Amino acid sequence: MAHSQEKSFTNVHIDLGARSYPIVIGADLLGDLRKGENIPAGTSALVVSNTTVAPLHARQLVDALSGHYPQVHTAVLPDGEEHKTWQTLNLIFDALLTHGCDRKVVLYALGGGVIGDMTGFAAACYMRGVDFVQVPTTLLAQVDSSVGGKTGINHPLGKNMVGAFHQPRLVICDLSTLDTLPARELAAGMAEVIKYGPIADMELFAWLEANMDALLAREAQALAHAVKRSCEIKASVVGADEREAGLRAILNFGHTFGHAIEAGMGYGVWLHGEGVAAGMVMAAELSCRLGMVDAAFVQRLRTLIKRAGLPTRGPVLDAQDNAGRYLELMRVDKKAEAGEIRFVLIDGPGRAVLRAAPDALVREVIDVCCIA
Ligand code: NAD
Ligand code: GLY
Repeated sequence: MAHSQEKSFTNVHIDLGARSYPIVIGADLLGDLRKGENIPAGTSALVVSNTTVAPLHARQLVDALSGHYPQVHTAVLPDGEEHKTWQTLNLIFDALLTHGCDRKVVLYALGGGVIGDMTGFAAACYMRGVDFVQVPTTLLAQVDSSVGGKTGINHPLGKNMVGAFHQPRLVICDLSTLDTLPARELAAGMAEVIKYGPIADMELFAWLEANMDALLAREAQALAHAVKRSCEIKASVVGADEREAGLRAILNFGHTFGHAIEAGMGYGVWLHGEGVAAGMVMAAELSCRLGMVDAAFVQRLRTLIKRAGLPTRGPVLDAQDNAGRYLELMRVDKKAEAGEIRFVLIDGPGRAVLRAAPDALVREVIDVCCIA
């Protein structure tokens, strides 16, 4: 990432009454936690990371936290979506108990969405709930998963099926950590940035059309704007509907198809953002066939997703009955009610709604939107 000379940071506030917290966004934040007057107090800290991220960024965080806590421990988990399981979660509890951490421990999730979701869930469960801080190091985690308090793990039968709402006390988005992120992961994160356009902000969508090259080149100002605007949108949605009584479901645009792709291919084969990318095209195509958006909008979305280096078509999950397999997997979705799948659809660019659709129409969409 090309850094500007002057260090600067910005705060986005997430307003949830007693559970409110700031999202601090800027370059080189881990090296300068003085910006963290908001660092929660505690008797110890446990930095949870994985075998990829810990060697790159844990030292800096541990050193910075040593000035804030009497003891700082680390737990390094195996890397990968396929490890977002009970077994891996238990390694966090092993570390907490081995180090004798009391309920004033503060957990730090240093990594992408997998580490964030698992650390948050561990914090929700340990001694019935302790504080945690999100330190997201992927674009996806900085623009989406670190904000809003959804935590959990996967089940072999369904994605993110076991978890809890547990808000972090603070989110630290250090844009400099993105320097080490592989290009495929950067692109995957772009899917969650693009998502905010069709559901909430077509101005952001147009900005992405104009700035996609700068983003992929990791230009600091472009990344800072994308992260900030995404966090603002997410903060306003979560602030209005923390526990997904309704509105918050719009953040799942593309995710119903996307989760089916992830589970159907085997966790870790398609990245989450890749599944969401192909899933957004499918959801937009479904919206189009229901008369809610025109074909030109679907094409505009497809073009931007392609420019981000993301897939615009889903994989074939079953050679005999591909659409049937998608439907089977999509029925295991947290938005489903009484076995009826509910999709996030686009009701005119910039506005999303949650709706059911006839199976026959969904089958048609899957048929035209999957790799032949
Ligand atoms: P990830 O956590 O698997 O990270 C992607 C890869 O990048 C991993 O190999 C990781 O080790 C590596 N990595 C992370 N930071 C790095 C860095 N700075 N440099 C080099 N490598 C780095 O995947 P993700 O895309 O961040 O997150 C996907 C997960 O997030 C999924 O499990 C998804 O369900 C979840 N998610 C949760 C929410 C939520 O609201 N809680 C929202 C969206 C997605
Ligand atoms: N990423 C979806 C949500 O936070 O609700």
